[in-house]
Amino acid sequence: MGCPPLVGAARSCGARPGSEAEVPGGCEAEPVGAGDARSDLEVIPPCDTLVHFVGVTHPNPSNLGQFREIDLESAKELLSGVKSAGILCRSGHRAGEVRPLRGSACRSGIAHPTMRHPRQDSSPLVRAGAGAPLAHRTVADVLAEGGDPRRARLRKSVFDFFAYLWQCDLKGYRSRLMDTRMVGTFDLERYLRNSKKVDISDIDLSQAAGHPLTEAEVRCLTYMMDIESHTIVYLRSILSTCAIEDPDTTAFLSCWAYEEHFHGRTIGQFLNACGIAFGQNRLAEVQRGTAFTEWLKDMGASLVCQFSRYFHGAYLTYGAISELSTLEGYGVLARRTQNPLLADILRRLAKDERRHFSFYYNKAKLELQARNSQRLTTFIIKHFWLPVGGGVKPDAEVNWILNYILKGSEGEKIARRIDETIAKLPGLGWFKQLSLSRAHSLKLSGDQGAPVGAVVLPSS
Ligand SMILES: [Fe+2]
Ligand SMILES: [Fe+2]
Repeated sequence: MGCPPLVGAARSCGARPGSEAEVPGGCEAEPVGAGDARSDLEVIPPCDTLVHFVGVTHPNPSNLGQFREIDLESAKELLSGVKSAGILCRSGHRAGEVRPLRGSACRSGIAHPTMRHPRQDSSPLVRAGAGAPLAHRTVADVLAEGGDPRRARLRKSVFDFFAYLWQCDLKGYRSRLMDTRMVGTFDLERYLRNSKKVDISDIDLSQAAGHPLTEAEVRCLTYMMDIESHTIVYLRSILSTCAIEDPDTTAFLSCWAYEEHFHGRTIGQFLNACGIAFGQNRLAEVQRGTAFTEWLKDMGASLVCQFSRYFHGAYLTYGAISELSTLEGYGVLARRTQNPLLADILRRLAKDERRHFSFYYNKAKLELQARNSQRLTTFIIKHFWLPVGGGVKPDAEVNWILNYILKGSEGEKIARRIDETIAKLPGLGWFKQLSLSRAHSLKLSGDQGAPVGAVVLPSS
């Protein structure tokens, strides 16, 4: 037991079947059931002093289950049973002193009755004679020494209360830690738990047409709807690469594609409510416009994966740029529109985009630690990167949307902000593609093409 003064004061010592031989000399072994402290209490006469030991020899997270099943349950039963058994439960001993065992209650802040015992499998109940002198003091006894006894009692009670909370919270905290799946600072487990389609059930879309909506906004929303709906095609492409080998990425992509689908659907619902109709085969129509170079890029990506294990950094960086651009795009449109319903919807979409960006960005940061990954990503982004919608929508339409979103000094600031954020990724200090694309689209601003897909503005 490792605590001679305590052993000397004990009259009997509870032991589980098979552990009787471990009861120290001078103590009478009394059989007790594992974790069944309530039944053990029935054999203890009122007014005895009860010391309940819990704990393990080498505490670590792998023992957490045993702590819960054995120690926590027995302590709970004990505490709920002491009252009915007529046992006074105190953290000190008036006539004597109890010192916690090494590396135990004192250091962890847990005072009597949950003192740790150096052997987990014994968890004995030790009965000492009433008022029997014990050689050492508990932490609570030390706190209770000197000064105003009422204040000392209050301090002791507060100490015991927080010690109990600390113990419970620690277990919960450890549990949460063990359930957490972090990707850098992105909590993937939390994302997977909370992923859901964007909820606009509280927005009355029948009122949408009653607010202003410009032709440019309709064109911009149509572009966004098409690209959001195109996500399922992009998912097919990305899963043909080595992205499918990474469990974090595949878990994320499963929820991501679901959320993006409902982004496209939500924008479509809003436009429909404003009297703008699209054909049933809208996705297929957009697909037909996809450039052949996109197909080539997909083929090239899956080929690169066969030769290099550093491709992860490239598609993650690509994803981070796209999500950040989309997030900023929704923000711009929400600030500019005079339609409060649209602004509300766009802000909800932007919330999702922020989470998407966070995953790609944090994951890319990890992947880009390798110098080879930085080199490959730099090569791919410099030669193949296109703004959101590039390769899917006609070039003229891509230029138009760049102009519309990134026009003026506000647009310049946004482009620079995106560039600076991406440039913080390892090895991407050179990145300024958004500013370059913006400058290029401004040059072509007088050469705009018509939007793809005829749109019918509301008669009002
Ligand atoms: Fe989206
Ligand atoms: Fe997104």
